[in-house]
Amino acid sequence: MQIANLIFKLVLIGDGGVGKTSLKNRFLFNQFTTNYSMTIGADFATKNVVLSFPERDKTYKIKYLISDLAGQNRFESVRALFYSGAKGALAVFDLTRRESLYNLEKWIKELITNAGRVPFIVIGNKADLCNNSGFDCVRNLEIATFLGELEEKYDFRIRFIKTSAKYGTNVTRAFEIIGKLIVEEHIKMGLLQ
Ligand code: GTP
Repeated sequence: MQIANLIFKLVLIGDGGVGKTSLKNRFLFNQFTTNYSMTIGADFATKNVVLSFPERDKTYKIKYLISDLAGQNRFESVRALFYSGAKGALAVFDLTRRESLYNLEKWIKELITNAGRVPFIVIGNKADLCNNSGFDCVRNLEIATFLGELEEKYDFRIRFIKTSAKYGTNVTRAFEIIGKLIVEEHIKMGLLQ
């Protein structure tokens, strides 16, 4: 079994209030708070993970540098600096706020401009509010249609996952998927075996 040590910088992007900080805190500390405290500029944190590819008999020890970018428009100029060196992104929208899905195009463009065509996944967060809670959540078909249009327009494949930072649903899984995509990309580019 071969083991490699790697550092991957990840950026969390998406509109203000969609749950980027909450997803990060759930992943890092297994914690959640209902208090909303807006991110100013960006927050940084690190976490070590182990990603296994049994089919290739490979294990990668990865240090994630997680940069949680402020979603509000007025932080746009500050954000540009924090994309530098990002190896992948988690593009987050709020399932209860339709416009946060459509704004993802702006976020993905900002990612490409500042970090290049790095792997990313789309996260529909606050899934817990979509179970008979009276919220008009964006339907799967509408999400798939919009993401399909983006795939065609920008010529990339988009992976999509629903999460709940509140209950921890799929949060670890989301960070695992993006890590594996980055590993695959590195292998494809000959940067990694
Ligand atoms: P900015 O810092 O402005 O960019 O916001 P953000 O995207 O980091 O959002 P944040 O994590 O601060 O969450 C905003 C609000 O949504 C907070 O009140 C959270 O408690 C709440 N929230 C986040 N994730 C979830 C979730 O999965 N379910 C529910 N019900 N509430 C959530």
